[in-house]
Amino acid sequence: MSQPVIETKGLTKVYGDFTALDNLNLTVNEGEIFGFLGPNGAGKTTTILLLVGLSVPTSGAATVLGYNIVRESREIRRNVGLLPDFAGFYEDLSAQKNLEYIGLLNDLSKTESEKRATELLETVGLGEWKNVNVEKFSRGMKQRLGIAQALIKRPRLLILDEPTIGLDPAGTKEIRELILKLNKEQGLTIFLSSHLLHEIQMTCTHVGIINHGRLVVCDALHNLTELLTESEGLSLELKIHNPTQELLKEIEGIVGVSRVLQKEDKVYVTMTSDVTLEISKTIARHGAYVLLMKPKEYSLEEIFMKYYEEA
Ligand SMILES: Nc1ncnc2c1ncn2[C@@H]1O[C@H](COP(=O)(O)OP(=O)(O)OP(=O)(O)O)[C@@H](O)[C@H]1O
Ligand SMILES: [Mg+2]
Repeated sequence: MSQPVIETKGLTKVYGDFTALDNLNLTVNEGEIFGFLGPNGAGKTTTILLLVGLSVPTSGAATVLGYNIVRESREIRRNVGLLPDFAGFYEDLSAQKNLEYIGLLNDLSKTESEKRATELLETVGLGEWKNVNVEKFSRGMKQRLGIAQALIKRPRLLILDEPTIGLDPAGTKEIRELILKLNKEQGLTIFLSSHLLHEIQMTCTHVGIINHGRLVVCDALHNLTELLTESEGLSLELKIHNPTQELLKEIEGIVGVSRVLQKEDKVYVTMTSDVTLEISKTIARHGAYVLLMKPKEYSLEEIFMKYYEEA
């Protein structure tokens, strides 16, 4: 297996007597979109600053693209694109000029900077706005410009600190689609932080939940949702008049059903996705009667809140 893109071991940051990050162990592999999810003050920005060498850990260690975050932070900054939680631009310069300037700061030649700026504005969907001053841009457009500046060095890893914060639904959707596109078309590994579960759920392949500086859970999104629905039950309680074993077997075979349990006169069906309709159709096809069908649904939101509270 290839080397992890990010690997932290016991990473800890203490400010005075306050532990902002407590013994963080996590791994992000190539090609993942890793969502770092946590409420305000959880330690997300603290972690990001440590990863790019803008802050020094109190204890523990980490590598980014194989480079040590303390000793080789220059190499990291050369190969990692960062969108900080506030991205500032020269408001009275055009988007193109802003990017060219960042290109020059990153040691690109003048011609390269111009070319790269134009190309990146197309990538982030701001091609038509290239000569417009940034002061005219909406917040969403500024965030996309922020992603463009993070891409200027052709990074191998993109780190985005709350990329959709303060954006309206349309702006949020554009950022989400851009993230998915960069990952799919360029195979870019992306680490992003957010306090919005919904965002993470729609964008990320992997998720780590952090609260009070501690990583509470970390896994592939599909493992996590499966695990949670298994333990918490996205389930249906059914009463079927004379259910046959054949019928129960067929329900168990439906994609999205993980378990069928018969207990006294009730049948409990655990689902990994909502396939209530398919279950009803199957029962009807067998000519059986449903006497009761009661969904016991936990939203993912509630389940994640459980993790927040337990941390
Ligand atoms: N330089 C500092 N000195 C003292 N405390 C700090 C410092 N930087 C951060 N903290 C504290 O560490 C905790 C974690 O902060 P951090 O900025 O990492 O949270 P976050 O998860 O990014 O939150 P947000 O969603 O608000 O951006 C907070 O309680 C914050 O007040
Ligand atoms: Mg933050």
